[in-house]
Amino acid sequence: MKRVLLIEDLPQVAQHLQQMLAREKEAELVGAEKDPDSAMTRITTEKPDVVMIDALLQGKVTGFDLAKRIRSVSPGTRIIIVTVPQRPVDPKPDQGVDAVFVLPGGAIELANALAIPPKGAIRPKGKMIVCYSPKGGSGKTTIAVNLATILRRRGSSVALMDGVMQFGSLRYVLQVPPSTRSIVDLPTGQGMKTSLSEVLWEGPSGIAVLLGPSRPEEADLMAAPDVANAMTMLAQDHDYVVVDAPSRLTDDTLAVLDAADVILLIVTYMQASVANTKAAVDTFEALGYKGTKPILLVVNQSDSMAGMSKGGIEHTLNLPVVAEIPTDWKTVAESLNKQQPFVLSSPNSAVSKAMDSLANSLVTQQRR
Ligand SMILES: Nc1ncnc2c1ncn2[C@@H]1O[C@H](COP(=O)(O)OP(=O)(O)OP(=O)(O)O)[C@@H](O)[C@H]1O
Ligand SMILES: [Mg+2]
Repeated sequence: MKRVLLIEDLPQVAQHLQQMLAREKEAELVGAEKDPDSAMTRITTEKPDVVMIDALLQGKVTGFDLAKRIRSVSPGTRIIIVTVPQRPVDPKPDQGVDAVFVLPGGAIELANALAIPPKGAIRPKGKMIVCYSPKGGSGKTTIAVNLATILRRRGSSVALMDGVMQFGSLRYVLQVPPSTRSIVDLPTGQGMKTSLSEVLWEGPSGIAVLLGPSRPEEADLMAAPDVANAMTMLAQDHDYVVVDAPSRLTDDTLAVLDAADVILLIVTYMQASVANTKAAVDTFEALGYKGTKPILLVVNQSDSMAGMSKGGIEHTLNLPVVAEIPTDWKTVAESLNKQQPFVLSSPNSAVSKAMDSLANSLVTQQRR
């Protein structure tokens, strides 16, 4: 169910849109505002999933200005600009325009703008979150393992998947018995689903872990679509699938990123990290990801700012920072070597609290 806030100053148009929204079973109108200031208050109090804004708002603030303001205070809210055929508008997610609804519009156009899937479409139950970074050693594995564990501790069913087909790490950062089976033991195609439970390993707090191959030469046995398939099948049975992705943009990585519902881009306050992340974001844009799935920045080792700032990184990459994870060599290294997620072994540490706030942001996102 999408909770929608309408921002429209023309009463006839507001009434038309309200009637259309009333007919859409997957949408619920949580408010209708006429002016930008009351709309901003409603954003904070109602936390809508979607806002629909008239492009032609009368007064000092245009619909586009308002869209930018909403994007900056509530990056996860989907923003639809309402316009007329004479004033065409293109979606520009980086400017706060995720979709456009052209009046008078039909029910299908409205559902598309609201991102409501067509009836009868198979929707995996869970949300697939991919931890990605173009730079090796940024903290993808650390963040994936601890995020999966914390989501599980909050009561969700969670699968953690090693998306790294060659030299993956999950096997070594968790207490996985050496003979535990992996993704290469799954049959391809339809048989994959039935065999999935046989290769999953029950990890800390009951997360279901799907390991990558144990031998480097086995990586060649995995076709990219099978990797993405495994991930989607895990999402049919779990609320969250957290994937530890490789840095290199190979076919496997792209398949995993394509399937993702949310991409967590792990970045540090280092020039090389930001510059490579910018290149990755440009690639995502070329692939058409922007606007179709949230791409969220997680700054790891965020206390080493080296002249950079959260606002600066958000500006350079044009994406929101959803969490800053501080450096804690002792807690993180000990947790990896003891093969226990630090959110379990040191729940009160600053790194664990930061992971907790990351999980909070994602859970809030998912409600949308
Ligand atoms: N917040 C942190 N504080 C201290 N150490 C950290 C932190 N995050 C990661 N590390 C350390 O940095 C190293 C790299 O982390 P990790 O293995 O999670 O990165 P990765 O992106 O998965 O690397 P790879 O590209 O090799 O898969 C690890 O040794 C880990 O202990
Ligand atoms: Mg790793």
